[in-house]
Amino acid sequence: MHVVEAAARPLIGTSWKMNLAPDQARAYVRRLRTQAADDAWGSRTIFVLPPYVDIGVAREELSGSRVLYGAQNVHHADAGAYTGEISAQMLAALGCRIVEVGHSERRRDELETDELIGAKVAAIRRYGMWPLVCVGESGAQHDDGLSMQVVVGQLERIFERTTDEDARSLLVAYEPWWAIGAGATAAPLEHIARLHADIHMWLSERWPGGDQIPVLYGGSVDLSNAAPLLATSGVDGLFVGRAALDPLTFAAICRAGLT
Ligand code: PGA
Repeated sequence: MHVVEAAARPLIGTSWKMNLAPDQARAYVRRLRTQAADDAWGSRTIFVLPPYVDIGVAREELSGSRVLYGAQNVHHADAGAYTGEISAQMLAALGCRIVEVGHSERRRDELETDELIGAKVAAIRRYGMWPLVCVGESGAQHDDGLSMQVVVGQLERIFERTTDEDARSLLVAYEPWWAIGAGATAAPLEHIARLHADIHMWLSERWPGGDQIPVLYGGSVDLSNAAPLLATSGVDGLFVGRAALDPLTFAAICRAGLT
């Protein structure tokens, strides 16, 4: 069976980005755990990706709960002289399940390339975790009608060496850069449906069973748009930034569309 398939859909997760110090993180995950206990999320898969320094807190507070946790980044090597870096081996030892790679902020600010992101995917898989691979086009590329061309290029380079076996544990997030962060709004639903259909098609042609890889949408998801986004064709989950920095809002987004 496809490994990620064991994780019920939709998958709804958040990266806190560089927010919430350990004490704040503890308060957040305790509130979220309380919300989880009332079972209002159906069988959905819920996850949080805190900063590295909060992962120990997540482990203490979320182990044994239904909320999965992971990391926002990882180094591609297993160990060695890499000052300031964190390895997949370390993250796996802390119980991380999901590791995000390829976010546009890291591509832009840390100059990460698709090739490096591909090497990180391999490292994450060596330690049995699920890579959550972000792809997406810039505003200028979108305006020029190049969205799918850009995303396909990213997919081809990132997954050039990803084996059939490792593809069984992938998650992909479509995150148009122009829809992310303060001042942005989520992409139009028709655009999302078109890109998700194309990404699903590419994944299904690349690997046997690739049609089962979940494709999440990210970029200005909030409480008002979560339900329509989840109802959009090809959207297997949501990846939320700033709207989820409040645990009660995130919990409500996790319930979106359920009666
Ligand atoms: P946002 O961030 O929800 O704050 O737009 C989304 C993301 O970067 O994944």
